[in-house]
Amino acid sequence: MKKLTSDQLRTLFLKFFEQKGHKVIPSASLIPENDPSVLFTTAGMHPLVPYLMGQAHPAGKRLTDVQKCLRTGDIDDVGDSSHCTFFEMLGNWSLGDYFKEESIAWSYELLTGEEWLGIDKDRLYFTCFAGDDNAPRDTESHDLWVKMGVDPSHIFYLDAKHNWWIPGTTGPCGPDTEIFFDTGKPKCSPDCSPACDCGKYLEIWNNVFMQYYKDAEGHVTPLAKKNVDTGMGLDRTIATLQGAESVYDTDGFAPIIARIAELSGKDYKDSAETVKAFRIIADHIRSATFILGDPRGVTPSNVDQGYILRRLIRRAIRYAMQIGIPENSLCKVADAVIERYGEVYPELKENREKIMGELAQEEIRFQRTLKKGMKEFERMKSGFTDGKIDGVTAFHLYDTYGFPIEFTEEMARDNGLSVDRAGFEAAFAEHQNKSKQGAEQRFKGGLVDANETTAKLHTATHLLQAALRKVLGDGVAQKGSNITTERLRFDFSFERKMTPEEIKRVEELVNEAIKADVPVTCEEMSVDEARAQGAIGLFGDRYGEKVKVYTMGGFSKEICGGPHASHTGELGTFKIKKEEASSAGVRRIKAVLL
Ligand code: ALA
Repeated sequence: MKKLTSDQLRTLFLKFFEQKGHKVIPSASLIPENDPSVLFTTAGMHPLVPYLMGQAHPAGKRLTDVQKCLRTGDIDDVGDSSHCTFFEMLGNWSLGDYFKEESIAWSYELLTGEEWLGIDKDRLYFTCFAGDDNAPRDTESHDLWVKMGVDPSHIFYLDAKHNWWIPGTTGPCGPDTEIFFDTGKPKCSPDCSPACDCGKYLEIWNNVFMQYYKDAEGHVTPLAKKNVDTGMGLDRTIATLQGAESVYDTDGFAPIIARIAELSGKDYKDSAETVKAFRIIADHIRSATFILGDPRGVTPSNVDQGYILRRLIRRAIRYAMQIGIPENSLCKVADAVIERYGEVYPELKENREKIMGELAQEEIRFQRTLKKGMKEFERMKSGFTDGKIDGVTAFHLYDTYGFPIEFTEEMARDNGLSVDRAGFEAAFAEHQNKSKQGAEQRFKGGLVDANETTAKLHTATHLLQAALRKVLGDGVAQKGSNITTERLRFDFSFERKMTPEEIKRVEELVNEAIKADVPVTCEEMSVDEARAQGAIGLFGDRYGEKVKVYTMGGFSKEICGGPHASHTGELGTFKIKKEEASSAGVRRIKAVLL
């Protein structure tokens, strides 16, 4: 067997199929143009769907390519020996041209031919489709392998779970025949076969005989033309053939791993922890670089592709911190990616500035809140009951500190905790609903006389916060507020249940402020002035901007957008209805005005 680098395998594969009459087509974008069913191109077939469905491809009926792909379904497994989010898929395509016979013969020739890969045929194993209601047993592929000289004991019939390929749930599909490489490890049991995932047999190539279409109702019908779609993962195949410990230990990743070592001052193989961190950073920054460098590139955001990109970058930052990479250095890792892949993917060089700029900005944005959020997490973590982080807290980490939910789940796992994901989704939905209501309310303007009631409750909320700080101390800070026409709800940081005396004292203080009937005044000033005057509230990112400060006599001074009652005397009588835990370290009060 030849010892090839991944660059050599890429070239060799394309050259082989070119010689068999295929046109080399460039990789399509990582962001699918023709297929709205996926956020990213997850296989070579996505950009070719219209042609698999029968449209004529301008380059002809025989194509070969190396397609940029991204799969994030397994993102949590990245760090082990084989998972990557970004990968390159080598493929050859017949669009209604040749079928099983040529496909199988050529795969065999490329794999075993002396002038090609020269793999010993005894190390190759094959699987074929066993048949079900959709399609018959694929004895044809079986017999074609035998015709090539494969011993029947190396061929296994497997069910649709293994040998039927479809991109997700609908689309062009069909039976496939898969090719495995025997690593030489001992069998895990007498029944050990390519169906087993013990690691003895590793898949290197998949030939799909795409001749059906599955619609949304689940009906499988024949396509007008029979196609061939094959897929070989570049890094994975190289790792397998080289007997490398992982895909990260191949030439594809070497310069990226070296750059991480330089930046962190650590050795990749120092410990299990460094191995995992190096791999995650290398994979995620490689993916982020390709996404940002894509001609249809996206930027980090909170939706769709932008969210995945953000998640990749933020996860890399967290692991970079863990191994001591200085802040704002991930650009240097991206630089290694561009150096490594720039020749084959010139778009990376062309979009270098954009890649660097977006990465740097996202890192700065995230660093700003990450440390605060991690501290808050550390502080809260002992307080979670039943080892579970409730949904409201997970949402708080998302909303306030920009922690993607998957990130909170991972930190939770590292600490032997779990996250109430459904609770998080509910908190998220409630928040969205509220923002939507807020926007609608803004458009309705003064029409709603409910505004008067809510303005009063809003004023009461300020008095409540001031009173809580007097009774429980200055550690009390607002964690959330929600006002309906019936009641106010106020979440604030405090470690334990309030005593009945404390609740009573808070009510008294608020009612005293109401009785004093002081005017509620509003002034615009800079954040610095507001701070100097002792105003409380979120100073946040509004540095340098003018803010509104509402003052209620000597009782309260707070940064806020309003609106409020004009005098505290309008509020009536303040009553706390409930005091309960909201999440660890956060209490919730519901109160009304009578
Ligand atoms: N489309 C097939 C795959 O992705 C080749 O495995």
